[in-house]
Order: sequence, then C-alpha cells, then structure tokens
Amino acid sequence: PKPSDKPRINGAKIYGQRPGKPFLYKIAATGKEPLSYDAVNLPAGLKIDKKKGIITGSVKDKGEYTVSVTVKNKLGSAKENIKFAIGDLLALTPPMGWNSWNCWGLAVDQEKVIASAKVYIEKGLAKHGWTFINIDDGWEIVGKSTAPKRDPQGNILVNEKFPDMKALGDSIHSMGLKFGIYSSPGPLTCGGYTASYQYELKDAMSYASWGIDYLKYDWCSYDQIAKDTSLAERMKPYFVMRDALKQIDRDIVYSLCQYGMSNVWEWGEKVDGNLWRTTGDITDTWESMSGIGFSQIENAKYAKPGRWNDPDMLVVGWVGWGPSLHPTKLTPDEQYTHISLWSLLSAPLLIGCDLTRLDDFTLNLLTNDEVIGIDQDPLGSQAVPVIKKGNIQVWKKKLADGNFAVGIFNLGNETETFTFDFTEAALNGKSMLRDLWRQKDLGSFNGKYECKIPSHGVILLKVN
Ligand code: GLA
Repeated sequence: PKPSDKPRINGAKIYGQRPGKPFLYKIAATGKEPLSYDAVNLPAGLKIDKKKGIITGSVKDKGEYTVSVTVKNKLGSAKENIKFAIGDLLALTPPMGWNSWNCWGLAVDQEKVIASAKVYIEKGLAKHGWTFINIDDGWEIVGKSTAPKRDPQGNILVNEKFPDMKALGDSIHSMGLKFGIYSSPGPLTCGGYTASYQYELKDAMSYASWGIDYLKYDWCSYDQIAKDTSLAERMKPYFVMRDALKQIDRDIVYSLCQYGMSNVWEWGEKVDGNLWRTTGDITDTWESMSGIGFSQIENAKYAKPGRWNDPDMLVVGWVGWGPSLHPTKLTPDEQYTHISLWSLLSAPLLIGCDLTRLDDFTLNLLTNDEVIGIDQDPLGSQAVPVIKKGNIQVWKKKLADGNFAVGIFNLGNETETFTFDFTEAALNGKSMLRDLWRQKDLGSFNGKYECKIPSHGVILLKVN
C-alpha cells in the first residue's frame, strides 16, 4: 500500500554515535508535504532543522538519550521516542543505503552518485530510512596507470570521475544523508585501482576530510601480502584499518568484505567491524540470491546491534555491474523473497540498482515500512529456519516487542499449499497474524494457518 497522507515516523528508533564526533540523523517520516519536525529532550550539543528534520551537532558525553520526535502536517501529527545511544557502537540497526557496484561497477562517477542521492529525496526513499550513498570500487587512480597514485605527502589521489570528494560529501550531507567509500587493505582494489596498503592512516585521514561515514574494506589483493591463511593473518589488515579509523575525528561505519573467509562472523566484532560479508558476490539470479540467503544459518547467533552478517547487496531494479544495465532477472515473487529474507536476516540493506530508473514495483519493494521495520527491529536478532518440509521453509525472527516475524518461503517450482502449524515453530497456539507486504491484519488463528505460496515466493507475517 501507498503510505498514508497522515504523518508516520519510520526508520530505526535507535541510533548510535560516538561522543564528540560530528552527529547527523535525519528523521525518516512519510505524510503529505509540507511536514514539520520537532524534537524534545535533545542532548546538549544537538540542534534540529525543523523544516528538513535533520539533527546535527555533536554530543560530548556518553549516555542514552530518549528524544521525543514529532512530525506534523495539516492532517495530523505523529510522535515517537527515538533513542540516541552515544557510546562506542555504530550501526545499531543494519545500515540502509545504496552502493554503486551492482549497477555501475567500475563505470561509477560523481554524477551517478549525486543523482542517486537526489532520488533518495525526490522519490522519498529517505522518508523510509534509506541513508547511505556509497561509492564502491573505481574512484582511485588505476594501479597500472603511470600517473601518480598519491601526492608527495602520501595522500591518495582521486581519478577524473571524482573531481571533488569533499564537495560531494558536503552535498550528500546537506540532504541529511551519509557518504560511503571503498578500499582494500592490499596494494590494489579488486578492480585494480590504488588501495590502502601501508597508507591506512593517511587514507583514513583523507576519508575524514571528505566527510566519509562508511568504509567497505575489501580483502582482494591482500592475498599477495598475507603470509598464510591463518586466522591471525586474516584479521591483521582489519586491525590496522580499525586502528587508523580510531584516530580520526569522525565516525565511520566499518564494513569488512572478505567473502566470509575464516568464519569472519566469529571474529568480525574483535576487529570492530560493524558488518561483514559472509559470502562471495551476489548476482541477479534465483540460484545466487536464494543460495546465499537460505544458507545464512550458522552465523545467526553472531548478529546483534552494531554487528551484522552481510549476505551482500540487493539485486532488485536495474543492475548490471556497469556500464550497461538490465532489469533484474529475479521474478517479482523472487524479489519479494529477496527483500523478505534479507529483512528477516537483519541484513544490511544496500540497494544495488540505478535509482534514476526506479519503477513503481521496485520503489514499492524498497519502501514498505512494515517490512523494513522487521530489518530495522532494535533487538537485532537474525532469523533462523524453524520448519523445513519439502520445498517449504519457515524462518522466524524474534522482535523487540516480544512478537515474531515469520517468513513462509516456497523454494519449489510450483505454487504450494501449506499448513503452518504454530507449535512446530514454537509459537503460541493462538496467534494474531498480520500480512506485512499487504499491511493487513489476517485475524486470529488457532494452532495453524493454511496458505498458498507461489513458486519462489513468500508470505511474510508478523505473529502476535
Ligand atoms: C569484490 C566485492 C564486490 C565489489 C568488487 C569491487 O568483488 O566483493 O562487492 O566491491 O570487489 O571491485
């Protein structure tokens, strides 16, 4: 359903930043424009732009601050408490953003990045919690080029497609959005561009000066540097960049990308990673998406606020790894499965498509607040499969309010009818069900729920 014209506050209700660091939080709210925003009980050091709903400043002291946020328009008002946790942890809910890789690949440029940020505002994605605009590989100088890769002081140089990173960051921030970048701990990135090996602190300082809020740090050519495949060698480069990031005057969400080697979920927290890729690269096929999504089981217990398993970026909309794009090869039902499963998994949600070509279906997939609400649930628990019968899998996720989100998936090639037996999923005999994609109460059910699930499709429920 389309969002109501009445105000509704969406997005994460808990947000973490470190003390003394630049603070930026945009209130995500739908409703007919013009909307006006207010926040009461802001901690000292923060102020709100009441027209844009953007809160900025810096909070000196650690602590948990409950801020009462109000959003109003002619039709009414909405109020929510939002917790600002000023402490050590970032990404208290899975990051939501856009990344250039699955669409533009190495053909990314500044115009494409800024165009994506503008779509967040113009098409309203920011009203649903979409925050990060992340450049992936391709912004540095190509490794095999004869041009200098760094200035005489060792500062990394950008290529001609990114003439002014600081200006790009400023314009992303002026929209209340956040700015992400990519590098590798080896000498080169996966795409063969200059990376951070032996310049980690220099690079962290450049990122800080450009206003970077998120770093994806991709193993790649570190294979040439690592002495062996031991855990210590696998962790080493991530400690180095962690230490560099600690020294700068900015919060940077730290995204580890090394495809799950050495069970990264077991130690990602130790190197202070906020998220870590658990698999190789996704593509827009059912085999790839479902193969990755339905195998995220063993890592479930490691997911929690600030620490997320990352089964890779979304493959809905126009994708293609650049420069030419095509509509995702996933069917509509497979796309519902993709977004439902990633939300149940508390996965980072990183849109991988050309946002300037968003069709209504894709926009709808990405802006269903009740579905996103499952991903952004503050408890931060990751769903696990609780029933597997033939082609049907039922995945269950515990929510902060004590209820559950449940996905009933059909992995088979035909529509199937299924009797969902609550006790088999360790749920109460009598339960109220809500269809989250349709945002509709289904009623109260005693013991079981009969349903029909299309091939490769899903029914996503909230179970009270
Ligand atoms: C690796 C990563 C991808 C992307 C590319 C960039 O393959 O897994 O997500 O960042 O490198 O070259």
